[in-house]
Amino acid sequence: MRLALLISLAAVTAGAGTALAQQRNAQPYREHVPYIDWKPDVTGDIQHTGTYQYWKDRKALNPDWVASKEHQWQLNWKFMDPSYDDTLHGGHIARDRGAALYKKLDAGGAFAACLGARNGDLKGLRANHYPQYSTALGRVVGLEEMIEHCAARQNVTLENGSYDNSAISVYVTEFSNGMPINIDVSKGPLKDAFERGRERFHLRNGATHFACATCHVTLVGRSLRGQVLTTPYGDAAHWPTYRTKDELQSLHVRFAECNRNAGAQPLRPGSPVYSDIEVFLTALSNGYPVDVPSARD
Ligand code: HEC
Repeated sequence: MRLALLISLAAVTAGAGTALAQQRNAQPYREHVPYIDWKPDVTGDIQHTGTYQYWKDRKALNPDWVASKEHQWQLNWKFMDPSYDDTLHGGHIARDRGAALYKKLDAGGAFAACLGARNGDLKGLRANHYPQYSTALGRVVGLEEMIEHCAARQNVTLENGSYDNSAISVYVTEFSNGMPINIDVSKGPLKDAFERGRERFHLRNGATHFACATCHVTLVGRSLRGQVLTTPYGDAAHWPTYRTKDELQSLHVRFAECNRNAGAQPLRPGSPVYSDIEVFLTALSNGYPVDVPSARD
C-alpha cells in the first residue's frame, strides 16, 4: 500500500517536472500576420499595391496627385525626393554638416577605409555595399552602425540615430545618388538577415498588437494620424531623411517612431533586430535609385 502510494507520488512529481521543463523550454506565444509573397526587388510592388507605375519615374509624377488626398499615397512620397523637388530643406544643411565632420574624421584616410571605401572613393557605398556582414562587428550592419564603429576607433562618439551620425550618412549616401540599390539577399548572412527581418515585419507586438505589416500591407492606402500608409517598396533608397517636423532621421529612428506610434517598445537604433528589418526593406528597394538629401512629412 505504502509502496503503491510512493510510486504514484513519484509518477505525479515526474509528470509535474516534465510539464515544468516543457514550460521553461517553450517559446513565448507570438502571432504573425500572414506573409505576402515579397520579392527582393522594387518591382515586387506591382503585385503588392500596384502603385510602382506611378512613382517609378519621379520626373513624370502626376502633379495633380501631389495635392490630392485620395491619390497622394500612390506616389509613395517620391514627390519629396530630390529629382522631383530639390528645394532647400534641413537635409541639405545636414549634408553640409556631414561633409565637414567627415573631412575631419578622414584626415588620415582611415575613416573611409574603415567604411569600406576603396582609395577613399565613397561612390556606391550606400547603393551596393550596405547593409553587409561586418567581420569587425561580427554581424550584419547598416552604414550608420559602421559610421558609429569607425568613429569609435578614433575615440569619437557618433551614435546611430544622433544628428551627426545621420548627417555623415547623408553625405556618404549622396555619392550613390542615381545608382540603383543592389544588395544580394540570396545567400549567406544577408539572406539570414533578410529572413529574420521579414519575420519581424510580420510579428504582432505592443499594446495595439500590430505588426509592421498590419500598417504597411493590410492598411496601405488608409489614413492614420493624418498620413496615408504607403508601400514599403522603394523606401530605403532615400534614407536618412529630413522630416519636416524638424528632425533628421536615420531609418532605425523611423522604425523606433513607428514602434512607439503602434504602442510597442521601441528598440535602440543599431539593435540587431532593426538591422535585420533594414536588410529586408533595403532588398525591397533593389533596382530603385538612391536619392538624398530627401524630405518627408
Ligand atoms: C500603426 C501603424 C504603423 C505601424 C505598426 C508601423 N508603421 Fe511605419 N509608418 C506608419 C505611418 C503612418 C507612416 C507614414 C506614412 C508612410 O510613409 O507610409 C510610416 C512610415 C514608415 C516608413 C517611412 C517610409 C518613407 O519612406 O517615408 C518606414 C521605413 C516604416 N514606416 C517602417 C516601419 C516598420 C519597419 C515597422 C515595424 C517595426 C512599422 N513601420 C510599423 C505607420 C506604421
